[in-house]
Amino acid sequence: MIRFKLIKYILAAMLLLTSCSNNNTSAKYVIGFSQCNSAEPWRETMNKELTEEAKKHKDIDLLIVDAQQNNSKQVADVENFIAQEVDLIIISPNESRPLTAVVERAYNAGIPVVVLDRNISSDSYTSFIGANNHIIGKAAGAHAAKLLNYKGTIVEIWGLKGSTPAIDRHNGFVEEISKHKDIKIVYEQDGAWLRRRGMEIMENALQKLEKIDLVYAHNDPMAIGAYLAAKNAQREKESYFLGIDGLKGPEGGIKAVSEGTLSATFLYPTGSKQAIETAVKILKGEKVSKNITLETETILPENAKNY
Ligand code: FRU
Repeated sequence: MIRFKLIKYILAAMLLLTSCSNNNTSAKYVIGFSQCNSAEPWRETMNKELTEEAKKHKDIDLLIVDAQQNNSKQVADVENFIAQEVDLIIISPNESRPLTAVVERAYNAGIPVVVLDRNISSDSYTSFIGANNHIIGKAAGAHAAKLLNYKGTIVEIWGLKGSTPAIDRHNGFVEEISKHKDIKIVYEQDGAWLRRRGMEIMENALQKLEKIDLVYAHNDPMAIGAYLAAKNAQREKESYFLGIDGLKGPEGGIKAVSEGTLSATFLYPTGSKQAIETAVKILKGEKVSKNITLETETILPENAKNY
């Protein structure tokens, strides 16, 4: 037993060379967090919040590894966690299918798994925490229809098509706008959640289309990227821009809404606090819900200042 613990800490120490940790070497429990892409602002916030929450628990050491939006790297990261016998894994999967098997392996090896925000393609996990992206998509669709007075053309910029939030945000949106026969999605592309891609997609859309009434991007960075492309082409006044996330701070969606760059954003909480709380409960042997759904809110120019 002591030897296993020792091996675990040697492996944890080795992993520390390539990851961040709150450095609590006397901790009783090691939690490995597999992040899909730390370079995105919303995920930077998530990492920071998880670290702060974990620090509140003396018996926890949190290791964060970044897959840099690479499915194979993320599979290897989770495999490392399994090999070092961490006590619990938290994961935000880059895409659902490529990450399902390795999450199942961890779960079946007896390591509790908390899946955060993006889901896998099976229910082999202990708890899933996230907002309901179908509801967010529907709220965005209903708001788009209203802004357009039930008639107009839409460019949709997708998040990574293999990730569950992108699929749900698309389906919810389409469910609402398809109630109005004069509203059409005229151009759609996968922007991989990245601001740079949002900008490129919009540049192409602007070249192809004479008039774009509304841009629906699956997150704020891509919506802001699209707005910047339209501004460069001096066509930013022609369209409404909708995003999702509602991050605080100078680069975030809330500021973009209050300045009028975005017409609305939909709050997508990171779930960091709930993730650590749930992890602690699991480690202490308490029962937790299989699904923990986080609340969303619509952020409009008139209420953006309240955030
Ligand atoms: C960050 C992010 C967020 C988005 C979420 C969906 O990687 O793209 O902007 O809301 O992931 O999983």
